[in-house]
Amino acid sequence: MFQPVKIAPSILSANFMDFRADIERIERAGAGFVHFDVIDGHFAPNLTVGVPVLKQLARAASIPVDVHLMITNPLEQIPWFADAGADSITVHAEALYGDDLARAVEMIKGAGAKAAVALKPRTPVATLRDVIADLDMVLVMSVEPGFSGQSYIAGSDAKVAEVVSLAREAGASPLIEVDGGIGLATAPLVAAAGADVLVCGNAVFGADDPAAALASIQQAAEAARTGALAR
Ligand code: DX5
Ligand code: ZN
Repeated sequence: MFQPVKIAPSILSANFMDFRADIERIERAGAGFVHFDVIDGHFAPNLTVGVPVLKQLARAASIPVDVHLMITNPLEQIPWFADAGADSITVHAEALYGDDLARAVEMIKGAGAKAAVALKPRTPVATLRDVIADLDMVLVMSVEPGFSGQSYIAGSDAKVAEVVSLAREAGASPLIEVDGGIGLATAPLVAAAGADVLVCGNAVFGADDPAAALASIQQAAEAARTGALAR
C-alpha cells in the first residue's frame, strides 16, 4: 500500500539540554514520529532514557512517540511505557523466547499502543513468521543497537525486501521501519526496497540545519520509493 515515507528523528542525537526546542524543530519540519530509544545497558551497550522522560515528552509532543525498547525484560516493562504515553512500542525478537514474542505483541496492543518487533542485523526475517500478521510495524536494524552515528550495514535494504515478501505471504501490511545509519545516501536504498519509516539520528540532529536535512532525506526517500513502485 502506498503512503509517503515518514522520518522518525531519534532523540539519542538530540540536545538533552535543549530538548523541547529540538522536538519542536522536527515537528515543524514535518517529522512523522519522535523515535525514543530506550537502552538498558544489558541488551545493548548504552544506558539512555526511560519512563520519566517519556512521560514528559509524550505530554508535550504533537506527533506520535515511537518507543524502541532495547531491553532484556520487555514483558515486565511494556506496561510502564504504555502508561507513560508511548504511541507505538517496539520490542526486540532477540529478547523474547518462544511464545513470549506473541505475548509481548498482545500485551502492547492490549495496552492501546501500536505493536512492532525489531530485528538486529544478524537475526533472520523468518523469526517474524508467527507474529507478522499481528504487527503494526516491523523494525529492521541497519546497525547493531547501542549508539547513534554508526555506519549503515550494507545489505540491510535486501532485508527490508525480505520483510515485504514475508508480509505479503501472510496477507499482512505492517509499516516497515529502518533504524541505523540512515541519511541522504542510504534513505533511497531502503525506501526503494519498501521502507515506510526512516529513523534518523545523526543525519538530522547532527546537521547544521536539522529541518533542511529532514526535508531532503524525506524527499530523496520518497523519490526512490515512487521510482521503485513505477518499475
Ligand atoms: C541505535 C538506535 C538508533 C540510533 C540511530 O541503537 O536504535 O535509533 O539512535 O542513530 P543514527 O541515525 O545516527 O544511526
Ligand atoms: Zn532506535
